[in-house]
Amino acid sequence: MTYEEVLQKAAEVLKPKCRVCPECNGVACRGEVPGVGAIGDGSAFTLCRDYLSRIRLQMDAVHPHFDADTSLEMFGIQLAGPVMVAPIGGMPFNYTNVLTETEYCEAVVFGAKEAGIIAFTGDGPLDDYFPSTLPVIASAGGLGIPTIKPWAKEKLFDRIDDISKIDCPAFAMDIDSAALVNLKLQGKPAFAKSEEEIREIVEAAQCPFIVKGVMTPESALRCARAGAYAIVVSSHGGRIMQDTLPPVSVLSEIKDAVGDQMKIIVDGGIRSGSDVFKCLALGADAVLIGRPYAIAAHGGGAEGVALYTEKILQELKEVMLMTDSPTLSDITKDKIRFYPVVG
Ligand SMILES: Cc1cc2nc3c(=O)[nH]c(=O)nc-3n(C[C@H](O)[C@H](O)[C@H](O)COP(=O)(O)O)c2cc1C
Repeated sequence: MTYEEVLQKAAEVLKPKCRVCPECNGVACRGEVPGVGAIGDGSAFTLCRDYLSRIRLQMDAVHPHFDADTSLEMFGIQLAGPVMVAPIGGMPFNYTNVLTETEYCEAVVFGAKEAGIIAFTGDGPLDDYFPSTLPVIASAGGLGIPTIKPWAKEKLFDRIDDISKIDCPAFAMDIDSAALVNLKLQGKPAFAKSEEEIREIVEAAQCPFIVKGVMTPESALRCARAGAYAIVVSSHGGRIMQDTLPPVSVLSEIKDAVGDQMKIIVDGGIRSGSDVFKCLALGADAVLIGRPYAIAAHGGGAEGVALYTEKILQELKEVMLMTDSPTLSDITKDKIRFYPVVG
């Protein structure tokens, strides 16, 4: 199977929810939540692409040839590259129900494992979804990162208890889901969490904890003080609140605030190896990619997910060669520039 065949199949099975556009940029699916778009006018997604395209790369090929090394260590495990599969849930109402939640989870967990990276899995308003993700991760030797919603305390700690029974390297909570439409529509409330509540989660956890949905230096510092292992700088793909900033645009100030106290992951409109490079140059340790992985999983199952990962990591390797960056630690801010107009 080729990646082009994956896209063709995905376009057939995802109609009309996702159009599998030549560039996954949030234009065709504006406002479609439930669905695959961003909320309201959709600009919280489309601007992610706009912002990333204004960051340009400094090309430099006058150096000895090398085969770039994209590998890194995170959560105590070795990854083939600084790319992970973002948590995506709600197949019945966001996608076309061609894949059940469990089948989707299997595709991303095993596809990521095959490609040497790791997938986050999701949580949502349907009560049977989250429990179904844990056996899949366990059957992949623990290679998966369960993500829970910021539920009320009792349900939250039940979930953490369930996670402690599988041997996974870390787990996450998408703290921004406190305002998610899909939860409200199904009458399943979730809540913002304070620094103290995050500390309680860290203390109850058996493995590193990641807070997903952090967009300010102040909140990043709260997570660091509470003992979080990592944050994901994310606006949930623009699905929570209209007019949020592109996460990549706040990355640098968050990195300046927290330094090396925590790992920093970012997501939102990252679509190429070049985009991954830009995020690392601005201070991220790794990125999450969401919608394109959902397309790959629908078009080719685990094989599609692995193929897409290989494509992105190959692109990253080529950019690293053309910017004289033999390893990820050589990707520095001086290798990018902001350009006001896209030609
Ligand atoms: C249909 C859909 C469902 C999602 N479900 C979840 C979820 O269950 N948990 C979560 O933390 N994020 C969820 N997200 C957000 C993604 O994890 C990610 O933050 C976002 O899609 C940004 O990346 P992208 O532009 O690469 O898609 C969802 C996004 C989409 C599009």
